[in-house]
Amino acid sequence: MPLLARHEPANRNTMNKAIPQDENYGFEDTSFKAAGGFEGIQKLVKCFYQFMDQLPEAKIIRAMHAEDLSLIDDKLTHFLCYWLGGPRQYREKYGPLSIPGAHRHLAVGEQERDAWLLCMEKAVELQPYKPSFKKYLLQQLARPAEGIRKSSQGIAAQ
Ligand code: HEM
Repeated sequence: MPLLARHEPANRNTMNKAIPQDENYGFEDTSFKAAGGFEGIQKLVKCFYQFMDQLPEAKIIRAMHAEDLSLIDDKLTHFLCYWLGGPRQYREKYGPLSIPGAHRHLAVGEQERDAWLLCMEKAVELQPYKPSFKKYLLQQLARPAEGIRKSSQGIAAQ
């Protein structure tokens, strides 16, 4: 069974003890709301792909993507809405998705994982989120990113 087959959206994870209890991120749609709902997540994802387009460290992962980023931009926006406890529109629009399955054809090593997370870190930093939510979101995203790297090790070794 792939490592991430049992991956649960961030809203279903147990709360990270480093996050103040009163924030309650991960409960129902608190994370979706903390990210500014659909519009907030749309802005985050736009910013993320702008960094992927611009950062020298991200060239390696930009090259894995199509020239036109508009489809992946829409997909990641809808996916993160669901993953953060918001509406499940990704499935309605694009069908079922498994994160490891969607990346199985890619060779993702430490450099690719770190480049992806760097773009996300820079994008998150520019959003008007509470510092505690920024920290929480980056911690949560690091988990599937590392899972993708691990499940991709077989490809990377070829
Ligand atoms: C670890 C570093 C990562 C890299 C290098 C990476 C790279 C990519 C690439 C190149 C694609 C397009 C694949 C294609 O068109 O064939 C893609 C799709 C996608 N990625 Fe990632 N990704 C990473 C991490 C993540 C994470 C952590 C998430 C979610 C939390 C995510 C969510 C998605 C989604 C939703 C799609 C669209 C899948 C589809 O429609 O097939 N990715 N990724």
